[in-house]
Amino acid sequence: MGRSEKIRKRYDRWSKFYDVFDLGGVNDQKMLAVDLLKLQPNAIVMDMGTGTGAILPYLAKQLGKGGKVIGIDFSQKMIKAANERIEKEGIASKAKAMVADGTKLPFPDNHFDAIIATFAFTSFPEPEKAIRECARVLRPGGIFSILDTGKPPGKKHQFRYRYLKTVMWRAGYTDISLDIPKLVKKSGLKLSKIERFSGSFAYITVAMKI
Ligand SMILES: C[S@@+](CC[C@H](N)C(=O)[O-])C[C@H]1O[C@@H](n2cnc3c(N)ncnc32)[C@H](O)[C@@H]1O
Repeated sequence: MGRSEKIRKRYDRWSKFYDVFDLGGVNDQKMLAVDLLKLQPNAIVMDMGTGTGAILPYLAKQLGKGGKVIGIDFSQKMIKAANERIEKEGIASKAKAMVADGTKLPFPDNHFDAIIATFAFTSFPEPEKAIRECARVLRPGGIFSILDTGKPPGKKHQFRYRYLKTVMWRAGYTDISLDIPKLVKKSGLKLSKIERFSGSFAYITVAMKI
C-alpha cells in the first residue's frame, strides 16, 4: 500500500473519534484564518482537507444567500461525518462536502473566490501538488488562507519543535517541517501575510492570486 493510501485509510479510521476528542474543533486560530479571507456575502469558498467539516458552520455564517462553501477531503468517512454535521446544523443551503483528491481538484480554473486549509497540508502526501491545484482553482484577486503547524523562528522552541516533529510524523505521517509559504510562492501566488501565535507552533499564511 502506498503512503497516500495509508494516510487516507488512517483518516477513515480516525473519523470515528475525531469529533469525540474535538481534534478538529473550531478555535480562535481557525476563526482568524477564516476572518482573514474577508469574505463577501456571495463568495464561493473551498475548505481543502475539511476533515469532519468542523469549520463549515463558521464559514457558512459569514455568507449570505448567494454564498457557498464546499469542503473537500479524500477520506470518504471524514466526508460522511462532514455531511452529517451540515444536516445537523441546518446549513445545507450554503454548505456541502464532497470526496475529492486535493491534488486533482474537480473544479475549473479560477473557480473560487477564497480557499481555506486548516491543518491540512502537513498531512497531505503531496502538499506541493495540492497547493498548486489551489492556485489553479482560485480566481485572480482571490484569497488563500492556510493555518498549519510549522517550524517556529528563532532558537527558543527548537527542542520542543524537534520532539513534536518526530511525534507527529510517527502518529500520522504529519510533516510539520513543511515550508508552506515557500510552496505558496512557488505556486505563483503572492504572499500577503504570515501571522504567528506566541507559545504555539501554528501559524497562518495568507496569499492572493494576482
Ligand atoms: C489533520 S486533518 C485536518 C482536518 C480539518 N481541516 C481540521 O482542521 O480539523 C487533515 C485532513 O486532510 C485530508 N487529506 C489528506 N490528504 C488529502 C488529499 N490528497 N486530498 C484531500 N484530502 C486530504 C485527510 O483525510 C484529513 O481529513
